[in-house]
Amino acid sequence: MRIAVIPGDGVGVDVTAEAVKIVRAVGEVFGRPIDLETLPWGADHFLRTGVTVPPDGYALLREFDAVFIGALGDPRVPDHRHARDILLGTRVELDLYVNHRPVRLLDERLCPLKGRTPADVDFVVFRENTEGLYVGIGGRFKAGTDDEITVQEELNTYKGVHRIVRHAFEFARARGRQTVCMADKSNAMPDGHALWQRVFRELTPRYPEIEARHLYVDALALLLVQDPSQFQVIVTNNLFGDIITDLAAALQGGLGLAASGNLHPGRTSMFEPVHGSAPPLAGKNVANPMGAILSAALMLEYLGAAPEASAVEAAVQWAVAERQGTPDIGGKLGTRETGDYVADAIRRARA
Ligand code: IPM
Ligand code: MN
Repeated sequence: MRIAVIPGDGVGVDVTAEAVKIVRAVGEVFGRPIDLETLPWGADHFLRTGVTVPPDGYALLREFDAVFIGALGDPRVPDHRHARDILLGTRVELDLYVNHRPVRLLDERLCPLKGRTPADVDFVVFRENTEGLYVGIGGRFKAGTDDEITVQEELNTYKGVHRIVRHAFEFARARGRQTVCMADKSNAMPDGHALWQRVFRELTPRYPEIEARHLYVDALALLLVQDPSQFQVIVTNNLFGDIITDLAAALQGGLGLAASGNLHPGRTSMFEPVHGSAPPLAGKNVANPMGAILSAALMLEYLGAAPEASAVEAAVQWAVAERQGTPDIGGKLGTRETGDYVADAIRRARA
């Protein structure tokens, strides 16, 4: 297995070091070596060289089995140009149309809702990852004046909607999940989101064993807080998925624990924690590396290393239960010490 590692900016660098530590540990423990190659792309690199992604950069990524990214975003690059090229660019250039974001409460005390247990918060969000409002089609006219007009278009294609909705159903079928909920805003956006309605209606009869449910995204937000236990698989567009997965991250104990994979099944895919670069916390050994470590577990699973992935997940779960982590999960450890604890837990479990 050959993996490209892009630590990126801010705490991305801190948490990626721990994810790398865990991948190496699990590679040693299971005797299946994993080759990690670091790429320096990020704000520093951009400010030094003027290059966000080198000309052959996306082709280079395709040569790896997977890509791991820490986080991107730096106040010295206020237009986020490097983040757009590296993160959003890779999603589009590698056609990573599935943003897979698992939401699992690992410990009751981390849920901000009263009386909810891990059994109540266990679902997956599939966020369309290559179109919607993220395509960058639009412009500004008379920018900076009182007559300014801006247009930012949302793009939905039959192919794009079909493949993500289908992926959600196939996942539900493969994992024995009984319900799939599609969320859109077709009441207010009757053109773009009528396509989501149409595709959903076309696909549901192919999965008779799965209950297909539709919600407007505002109602989904309400119900996720009122009773998350009713959700197993959620599929939605790019922007709604972005927003819903931050809400969902809160349900499982915060952004520090949330993992994600940007996938094109069968091709080089990219894995990253959901959180951002948090510049004020960078280099202070305070960021929670568990979201990054769980993203690495998702990557291992995707690469066919299921025992390794399970070992990493179990070790994180154990660390959370023992409060061996950063203060956001009720612990007293730093970023590095959390990584060490999880690595030791993996080694102890196999010893
Ligand atoms: C995410 C992030 C990105 C997104 C930002 C950094 C552009 O919030 O991965 O959820 O909106 O997709
Ligand atoms: Mn986001």
